[in-house]
Amino acid sequence: MTGTQRVTKAVIPAAGLGTRFLPATKASPKEMLPVVDKPAIQYVVEEAARAGLDDVLMVTGRNKRPLEDHFDRAVELEHTLELKGDKDKLSLVHEASELATIHYVRQGDPRGLGHAVLAAAQHVGDEPFAVLLGDDLIDARDPLLELMIEVQEREGGSVVALMEVPPESISLYGCAAVEEVEGDVWRVTDLIEKPPADEAPSNLAVIGRYVLSPTVFEVLRRTEPGRGGEIQLTDAICSLIASEPVHGVVFRGRRYDTGDRLDYLKAVVRLAADREDLGPPLLDWLQTWLPERRQQDAAAPPDGGAC
Ligand code: G1P
Repeated sequence: MTGTQRVTKAVIPAAGLGTRFLPATKASPKEMLPVVDKPAIQYVVEEAARAGLDDVLMVTGRNKRPLEDHFDRAVELEHTLELKGDKDKLSLVHEASELATIHYVRQGDPRGLGHAVLAAAQHVGDEPFAVLLGDDLIDARDPLLELMIEVQEREGGSVVALMEVPPESISLYGCAAVEEVEGDVWRVTDLIEKPPADEAPSNLAVIGRYVLSPTVFEVLRRTEPGRGGEIQLTDAICSLIASEPVHGVVFRGRRYDTGDRLDYLKAVVRLAADREDLGPPLLDWLQTWLPERRQQDAAAPPDGGAC
C-alpha cells in the first residue's frame, strides 16, 4: 500500500442555493428534494457508508437545517410509530440517523466548489479523503467509490471519477487529458474546468466523486478564482499533477444527474422503474399513457398546428 493512511472521511458539499429548482428550494434545501421517496442527499450518504466512510462532513450554509434534522433521531415520530407498532416505517426513520457520524461546517461566503472543499481542511486533517457531490447519484449496484479508494491506496495521490460523455456535453464538466495505465484506470495529465467543446482534450468528464490527497488544501488556499469567477476544485487538482500522481477511474455504470429539472425527473422515473413495489405499475401506466399522450399532441399540436 503506497498511501500510508486509509481513507475514512467523506466530504459532501451542500451549500448551493439550488436556484434551478425555485420555488421548491425557496425555504428547503435542494439536497432534500425526494428522489422517489428518499431525499437526494441520503443516497449520497448511503454510498459513502457502503464504501466504508462512516465519518461524513457536510459543508452547508444558510437554510440547511433540514439536513441536520434528517440525519438526526426523530424521537417524537419514532415514539408515535412505536405505539402504532409500525416497524417498517420505524426502520425507515431510523435508517437515516444510523448511516454515519455526520458533522457539519458552514462555508460562510460561498465562493465555489474548491472553496467548499477547503472548509473541510480542519476536520479532514492530514489524511486522504473522499468528496461526493450531491447532484450526481451513482447507482448502488455499480461500485465506483470503492474502486477509487483502492486505486488511491495503491497509487497514492488523488483519484477522480471520469465518464465518457458526448463531445458536445463536455463544456458542462471538468475535462481530463489522460494516458492509459490499465483497464479503466488512467493517469491524468491535465484537467480543465468546463472547456468549450473545441478546446477539450478528450470526452472524459469529471463526475462528482473524488478521492483527494490532503495536499489539495494547501493548493486550494492559493488557487485563484477560475471559470465563472469561482475557486474551482478542478484547478487545484490540476496543480497537484506536477508533484503527485492523479489517476482517473472511468465509470461505465449508471449515474443519475439530479442537478437540473429534466435530468432530475429522469432520475426519479428510472429509479422508480427499478423498484419492486413501484416499477411494475409505473411501467404499465407509462406504456398506456405515452401513446395516448402522443395521440393527443398529434390531434392538437401545442402551437395550434399549421393551417
Ligand atoms: C462540478 C465540477 C465539475 C464537475 C461537475 C460534476 O461542476 O466543478 O468539474 O465535472 O461538478 O457534476 P458543477 O456541476 O457543480 O457546475
